[in-house]
Amino acid sequence: MKYLVTGTAGFIGFHVAKKLLERGDEVVGLDIVNDYYDINLKYARLANMGIQRDLVKKGELVQSDTVPSYRFIQLDLSVKEPLLALFAQEKFDVVIHLAAQAGVRYSLTHPEVYIESNIISFLNIIECCRFHPVKHLVYASSSSVYGSNEKMPFSTSDSVDHPISLYAASKKSNELMAHTYSHLFNIPTTGLRFFTVYGPWGRPDMALFLFTEAILKGEPIQVFNHGNMKRDFTYIDDIVKGVLKVADRPASPNADFDSQKPDPGSSKAPYKVYNIGNSSPVLLMDYIHAVEKGLGKEAKMNLLPLQPGDVPASHAEVSDLVRDTGYKPDTPIEQGVRSFTEWYLDYYKK
Ligand SMILES: NC(=O)c1ccc[n+]([C@@H]2O[C@H](COP(=O)([O-])OP(=O)(O)OC[C@H]3O[C@@H](n4cnc5c(N)ncnc54)[C@H](O)[C@@H]3O)[C@@H](O)[C@H]2O)c1
Repeated sequence: MKYLVTGTAGFIGFHVAKKLLERGDEVVGLDIVNDYYDINLKYARLANMGIQRDLVKKGELVQSDTVPSYRFIQLDLSVKEPLLALFAQEKFDVVIHLAAQAGVRYSLTHPEVYIESNIISFLNIIECCRFHPVKHLVYASSSSVYGSNEKMPFSTSDSVDHPISLYAASKKSNELMAHTYSHLFNIPTTGLRFFTVYGPWGRPDMALFLFTEAILKGEPIQVFNHGNMKRDFTYIDDIVKGVLKVADRPASPNADFDSQKPDPGSSKAPYKVYNIGNSSPVLLMDYIHAVEKGLGKEAKMNLLPLQPGDVPASHAEVSDLVRDTGYKPDTPIEQGVRSFTEWYLDYYKK
């Protein structure tokens, strides 16, 4: 099978592409390689898959020098023509769309980027799937779509009409756009609501990375909502397994869909959304203790109020995922955090 994976200079896309290649699939990776965070980390991820930095040029496919079935292209998804040309040339079987402007807090200061990279880019991807049909379009949504919902655990059958950040609104918009195209053009689409993903090669703007950096420097870590937070932290390998299980199973119409009582998580169209989360929320303080243990060093803490746009808790209901794929994320937090700190200490030669 031939896959297009977008966001492969990014955290999750890198891991997903790697796993697809390991199991023998052909992959074209795509990323704009922007500088939202340390660009060296992005190029290091690319290099880890045999894509050398000096060969990366906008709009040109680069052959991996270590994996014959891997090529990479630097493209901006918000520009349609080159993307259409790529789809016409490559004839992908499956698209796994993970590129986006991530981050809740950044969306308060840089709203326009979210329209370009999450809305216009999504439209371009799904338009390409319309004119160059694929067996399945899988795309990243986010647990943030649950916004100010307090009913736990969060279920894909819950209403998600109360986003509290533009980031969340952009992800919810992707789900709506996907449904429209699944209905109109019979494109099988599956949206995956990821719950706080962490692990080796992770994102420098996320808590685990920031905590690790600060603890090693002996600086205080910023602990929001005075530590009174619970998160369904999900280990990267679990996310990757879930993405592949779902990708292998194109969305199909729900035969039991009742238009009188419409279930937001499925449809008469070949459309589906799933939560992918550990489904066992961890207290932020326990997460911090796991980092301290992994580093063998105590954290100094700066207790702060809840940040605008942030939610105090998240908990994924994953029964649909388990029913349809037989798979449930389950890496314990201590094990996952240890893998991260080991990677961090090795990567940054600490
Ligand atoms: N990491 C998490 O905890 C988490 C949680 C929920 C949802 N998600 C979603 O999962 C996906 C992957 O997240 P990640 O953590 O790997 O983020 P990431 O920032 O590491 O990776 C995203 C990549 O997309 C690329 N990109 C951004 N705009 C682009 C554009 N216009 N054209 C082409 N490429 C572009 C960036 O350069 C980046 O490398 C995103 O859609 C994100 O919103 C992540």
